[in-house]
Amino acid sequence: MNTRPLPEGPVPVLLVGLHGHGRSHLRALRPLADQGLVRLVGVCDPRPPTPGDDLEGHGPVPHFDDLDRALRETEARVTVLVTPIHTHLPLARTVLAHGSHLLLEKPTTATLAELHELTDAVAASGLACQVGFQSLGSAGIDHVRHLLAEGAVGELRGIGGAGTWKRTSAYYDRAPWAGRRRMAGHDVVDGALTNPFAHMVATSLALADGGSHAPREITPDLFHAHPIEADDTSCLRLRTHEDIPVCLAVTLCAPRSLPPALHLHGERGHITFEYTVDRITVHRPGHAPLTTTHPRTGLMENLIAHLREDVPLLVPPTATLGFTHVLEAVRTAPDPRPIPTEYQDVWREAGATHRTVHDIEALVRLSARRMTTFADLGAAWAASIPTAHPLEVRS
Ligand SMILES: NC(=O)c1ccc[n+]([C@@H]2O[C@H](COP(=O)([O-])OP(=O)(O)OC[C@H]3O[C@@H](n4cnc5c(N)ncnc54)[C@H](O)[C@@H]3O)[C@@H](O)[C@H]2O)c1
Repeated sequence: MNTRPLPEGPVPVLLVGLHGHGRSHLRALRPLADQGLVRLVGVCDPRPPTPGDDLEGHGPVPHFDDLDRALRETEARVTVLVTPIHTHLPLARTVLAHGSHLLLEKPTTATLAELHELTDAVAASGLACQVGFQSLGSAGIDHVRHLLAEGAVGELRGIGGAGTWKRTSAYYDRAPWAGRRRMAGHDVVDGALTNPFAHMVATSLALADGGSHAPREITPDLFHAHPIEADDTSCLRLRTHEDIPVCLAVTLCAPRSLPPALHLHGERGHITFEYTVDRITVHRPGHAPLTTTHPRTGLMENLIAHLREDVPLLVPPTATLGFTHVLEAVRTAPDPRPIPTEYQDVWREAGATHRTVHDIEALVRLSARRMTTFADLGAAWAASIPTAHPLEVRS
């Protein structure tokens, strides 16, 4: 067990995985560095920073291409892992072996078995691990729970999710693992439900039952319009262990990107939670919609508070068990089915291929509202999926 107290003063932080979402972590670390909570002591990536890169204002810090060496030489006490999904478990093990706490990007691991391995490794180390589901730091989560508990829309009958974003070929061209289900013998599971819309899955489960339970009857219907292995347009249905139906419809082939929304369908109205912008709207028949926005606690801030003051971690690996069961269902599902180009608008613009699936905004919106699949809504490209039992939830 690791009981080393943190040093007084700023916590030495190492960032691993620099050139993608790692930049957002560098930006998020800036105000914490200004407050004296953290100090960036190094970056690790096989690709060095470009000459003159000020690392989002952290100034020049040592670059390492080897994680063991980076941990040894920087003596980082917190390591932020922002690397491809299939590297999460092996790199996390290396970090824990050096006695560093972890902020590990989502999805937690590439398989359910790996999540159990990670959970065991973290427990054995006595170190803390926070998983990068930033939407779970929203005070909106507790507000929705409070609204449900006080019966604002009556009993919860189901949760629908609608996610419409636009990603072009540039998104998939940025890294070899992008849009892959497997690569060089490793599971990658980089699909719309398990990566870009992973927060929707995790947030819906957190609202339904806390997120730490295995859901039942997980049915992913996976499709792709882009020429990729993984899904970019999907509908996921499940029942939580408390038997709440969830139906999430997502696409990366929408004409534009809108804030994704979870709709908590109650007996008397519904609550909409736009989890990327912490915005909640209560819809009740006979009442004007009431919208509120809520603050968010950063995952690094919470991790430091946990280490210094024993504040509970917002997202320990165990809180991602429900999500990882979904990931496992997607991982082991039949390969996504192609959406024929006759159902797409495809064009080249600014060096990238753009793809929009016909009527996809309306289909996603209706799926979340009616808790039905694309096939049940009459999408011709989804038609050969046999009609499953509808979840029979309306609000
Ligand atoms: N929380 C969020 O909202 C959010 C958003 C985007 C990405 N992510 C997650 O962040 C992680 C990285 O995604 P990305 O889109 O930035 O990927 P990316 O491929 O664009 O960038 C990954 C970086 O990691 C580096 N890298 C690869 N292997 C490495 C290794 N063994 N050691 C050190 N560095 C290594 C790469 O060179 C690259 O710089 C993924 O887990 C992804 O799911 C989370």
